[in-house]
Amino acid sequence: MLTGIIKGLFARFGYEVRKIPQNREERPGFMLYKYLKADGSFDYEKYRQTQIEGNKRKIQKVWALEEHIVFLSNYIKTVIGMPQFGICHGTRRGKEQEWFRKYLGCEVIGTEISNIAEQFPYTIQWDFHETRPEWIDATDFVYSNSFDHSYDPEKCLNAWMSCLKKGGICILEHTSHGHRASEINPFYTHIVQMPYLIATWGKGSYGVRELMETPKKHERLEFAYFIVIQKF
Ligand SMILES: C[S@@+](CC[C@H](N)C(=O)[O-])C[C@H]1O[C@@H](n2cnc3c(N)ncnc32)[C@H](O)[C@@H]1O
Repeated sequence: MLTGIIKGLFARFGYEVRKIPQNREERPGFMLYKYLKADGSFDYEKYRQTQIEGNKRKIQKVWALEEHIVFLSNYIKTVIGMPQFGICHGTRRGKEQEWFRKYLGCEVIGTEISNIAEQFPYTIQWDFHETRPEWIDATDFVYSNSFDHSYDPEKCLNAWMSCLKKGGICILEHTSHGHRASEINPFYTHIVQMPYLIATWGKGSYGVRELMETPKKHERLEFAYFIVIQKF
């Protein structure tokens, strides 16, 4: 009751009182939800299970838009020419690889951490923080709208960029969705911070080529961009 009175009092003056979630860490330029065991070490199993549960809860949904994949396919052809191999990360029902295959006519696979991943065509059950030897320096493009699901965005982006050929591009869909960094969306930063983070994490081996507002944006989103990161 006391909490309600305090909240109401602050609200009258235009302020909001909110509980600070446990496990949320402020890092320079971004917020990260930490999966921790009682001893303070990283709880990978908790992360994996949380993501799998989230995947199954939303298994009927598709976030990517076919119209966006058409737009990006044309962009890829213009910037790097006809690709041979692409990887999409965090693909749930696998629609993005299906559409890239349709519009680019090349080999495109998707990674998905969920244990039902392989029910969907061209999808492998795989944690996108890890790489396979055959992907390294062998991929023309990477696409993901799931970067906010990373438990370690620096490790994750470095893994994705290591797979690209020189000149290859990684396209991240970056929106205001999940703007508080939560168990299911552990990474959050505003779009204006992303170029700083990418430059810091890339250490001169890759950089932002272009920022494009997405052709369509859900009305509840504050912002929605495609960030094009190119390997030097
Ligand atoms: C926001 S959904 C996006 C799904 C799909 N790209 C779409 O447009 O509908 C994020 C997906 O990433 C998956 N995911 C989360 N963490 C992952 C990881 N470390 N490796 C691979 N997939 C992951 C989740 O299981 C979920 O299906």
